[in-house]
Amino acid sequence: MITSPGLDRARLVEWFRRNRERSASIFALVNEDAFHERPIPLRHPLAFYEGHLPAFNFLTLNERGLGEPPLDSRLERLFERGIDPSSADAARSHDRSDWPARETVQRFGARCDSEVERALMTARIDDPSVPSLVRAQAAYTILEHEPMHHETLLYLIHQLPYGRKRALNGHHDDHPVGSADFKTVPAGIATLGADSAEAIFGWDNEFERTEIAVDEFHIAERPVTNGDWQRFLAQGGPVPPFWHRRNGEWHLKLVFEEIPLPRSWPAYVSHDQAEAYAAWAGMRLPSEAEYHRAAFGTPEGAERPFPWGDEAPSAAHGNFDFERFDPEPVDAHPLGRSAWGVLDLVGNGWEWTSTPFGPLPGFTPMTSYPVYSSDFFDGKHYVMKGASPATSRDLIRRSFRNWFYGDYPYMYAKFRCVTK
Ligand code: AVJ
Ligand code: FE
Repeated sequence: MITSPGLDRARLVEWFRRNRERSASIFALVNEDAFHERPIPLRHPLAFYEGHLPAFNFLTLNERGLGEPPLDSRLERLFERGIDPSSADAARSHDRSDWPARETVQRFGARCDSEVERALMTARIDDPSVPSLVRAQAAYTILEHEPMHHETLLYLIHQLPYGRKRALNGHHDDHPVGSADFKTVPAGIATLGADSAEAIFGWDNEFERTEIAVDEFHIAERPVTNGDWQRFLAQGGPVPPFWHRRNGEWHLKLVFEEIPLPRSWPAYVSHDQAEAYAAWAGMRLPSEAEYHRAAFGTPEGAERPFPWGDEAPSAAHGNFDFERFDPEPVDAHPLGRSAWGVLDLVGNGWEWTSTPFGPLPGFTPMTSYPVYSSDFFDGKHYVMKGASPATSRDLIRRSFRNWFYGDYPYMYAKFRCVTK
């Protein structure tokens, strides 16, 4: 057995198992007969994801990283990559009726899992002479890929009709919140991205570290709530995707139940809807750099890893890491406030920015997954920052960037406004 000094294999194996268990518990939320459903027409059916996760792990680490032979080339190819078509029409080219039986997918997945676990325990996964294994890049790639899909899975399950999944009735807090105060963030530097020589791991779009000078601006201390959005709606604004009118009253479609609209929760809307709201309010969305200033900047000039400071993210700081499936009132986590007193920047829904998703200066496609980001540098995807209730704690770091089409309505994404 070849071991690399400094590599905490026990931690990686524990993380891998934790990921696989969370995947299994998310799939267990869905009725058996819904596996071949395509709850979001722009995505593959649920069955794809059950194969994609183990196939991606095996392909990326064992096959492409370590040079091991395929386990099942046909299934590996079938499950290699998801889709992001621009329209339901474009999605039709991905239609197929021959997804394998669930049992076949699960048997294949189990074989992948045992090979991946063996590799994490004993193979030379950290090898400076193999580009995709430098500082164990392929291992971290698979370990962060799976939690991203936990969130994708929840979005998908969200769109599945009640009756085809578990019914879970929770207690949901809602209370009046005052109108949003605006906090002044003075001119200063926002540091986006990270230094590839220093980071243990990051996705390719996080490199290189980039300093951006940002002018003074004023930012809402909290995200726009459903209550705020009702005023926009009354003046002709669009209906947010998770809202549903029943007996003349607005309701919110949660993953497992429908409840009367909680006015203190953030309005989850598409980027384009968020932009329309901001324009209606005479304001605009923050740029990615302005989000960074509001979240990580301090009056003293230092930039911190998290809005609340240096402490590792915990349930006290925000609504993330599957503490619950649903949003909370926007003021539920005073301990998560940033140095300027801005609330709810990490957790409770990703935050839309006005910045089209693009490379930072020094961008190079990552060896372990070269198409991760570059396909989406098309000016039609926008950067989202922060985290949602379904974002793993392992993905919460300052440089992490998420992105979706401006009109994609399925994510847990909120927003706030800024003014000059
Ligand atoms: C970074 C969340 C936009 O789901 O499309 C998963 C992550 N890429 N498998 C996506 C991803 C490939 C990606 N997002
Ligand atoms: Fe994927």
